[in-house]
Amino acid sequence: MLEFNHLLKNYQEGKTLPQDFYTNSNIFSEEMKRIYFKQWLMVDHISRIPNPGDYFVFDAEKESIIVIRGRDNEVRAFYNVCTHRGSRICLDEEGSKKLLVCPYHAWSFSAEGELKAARFMPEDFKKEEWGLRECHLKIYEGLIFINLSLGEPMNFNEFIKPLKEMMEFHQTSKSKIAIRKKYPTHANFKLVLENFQECYHCPTAHPELCAVQDKDWVVAMGAGIGTAPQKETDEYLNKIKPWVEECKKNGTPSEVYLETDEGLKKGLNRYVDRTPIGNGNLSQTKDGKPASSLMGQFKDFDGGLTQVSFNPFGCCYFTNDFGVVFIFKPISLFESEVELIWLVNEKAEENKDFKPEEVSYIWDVTTAHDTTIIENNQEGLLSQSFKPGVLSENESAVTYFYNWYFTNMQLP
Ligand code: FES
Ligand code: FE
Repeated sequence: MLEFNHLLKNYQEGKTLPQDFYTNSNIFSEEMKRIYFKQWLMVDHISRIPNPGDYFVFDAEKESIIVIRGRDNEVRAFYNVCTHRGSRICLDEEGSKKLLVCPYHAWSFSAEGELKAARFMPEDFKKEEWGLRECHLKIYEGLIFINLSLGEPMNFNEFIKPLKEMMEFHQTSKSKIAIRKKYPTHANFKLVLENFQECYHCPTAHPELCAVQDKDWVVAMGAGIGTAPQKETDEYLNKIKPWVEECKKNGTPSEVYLETDEGLKKGLNRYVDRTPIGNGNLSQTKDGKPASSLMGQFKDFDGGLTQVSFNPFGCCYFTNDFGVVFIFKPISLFESEVELIWLVNEKAEENKDFKPEEVSYIWDVTTAHDTTIIENNQEGLLSQSFKPGVLSENESAVTYFYNWYFTNMQLP
């Protein structure tokens, strides 16, 4: 941590981080331990593993986690590490198995993680002591969260509490996966996360998103409330007042949640808001028209867009007819991965009620463009000429992100 404290001294508020934060492998290892492994990480939707024995593997940094549904229908998470000599057990990204058989010496584990078979073991070997090592897991509203803390993780109920009203309105538990896509990104994960904390780049990088969204939203709310100068924010909030009033009348939540100082001190960084897409559009699609049937508790389309952020590693956007789950993963110092999962009403039928390519259009093109700009950023940042730049008044959430990052890096 000496290194981190030394680097921190070179940081000037209002500027971007110095180069070493993005290039030092010791800092990267510390970030994993101090930040990534301590957060509740949203990893997928439950509809990916509907039957006993169904599993998928979540890989991030050096860890690989098997999320599997047991014969008792319980979903559990195990380290993908054989308790014999440590080999990876599941080599495929997903599948369905009665037994998880290690490819090295064939030790076999049940879907509940118990060791079932191991040949030629000494007489006093107790199979019951050599089951797979479990990782913390919670399912909330159909979303699967894991926590890689070796000790007790932060309290899940406390963590999810301020996000509940909005999540439960959109009912992700009554949805299913329409389509999923991965965006491997050759860049340090902080560049990926920073990019998602600002929409200053949206007018240049995202013509499709900017065509569907109200241009004032792009400035004032594109990366959440408080990221634009006060004047623009106030003007926008004033403009959408009648829409917000209408939401209140209809019983649709529209309250903003910003992380509290107390939450930030504990390493939390959660966010909720709900605003109109604008331009008369009902959904975030190419033509602004709905792409699927209503989700959650909506009785009618109101053209709203909800943002719920669990932490900088995962968030959900909801229109009235679909949800987009964003998962941001650090892989190594210069490698990250972004995965998007689009959710629709569980009753919606493909090709009748929705077409995956229509539901996914806006955030697919937008994320593909983000990948390019983030990779360009990483390349330029490696130059010997690089110096931290000054953040604009439309990038305040980047500064907030740095505060969250520094707080976590310094927590005991
Ligand atoms: Fe898995 Fe030997 S390492 S059976
Ligand atoms: Fe972007």
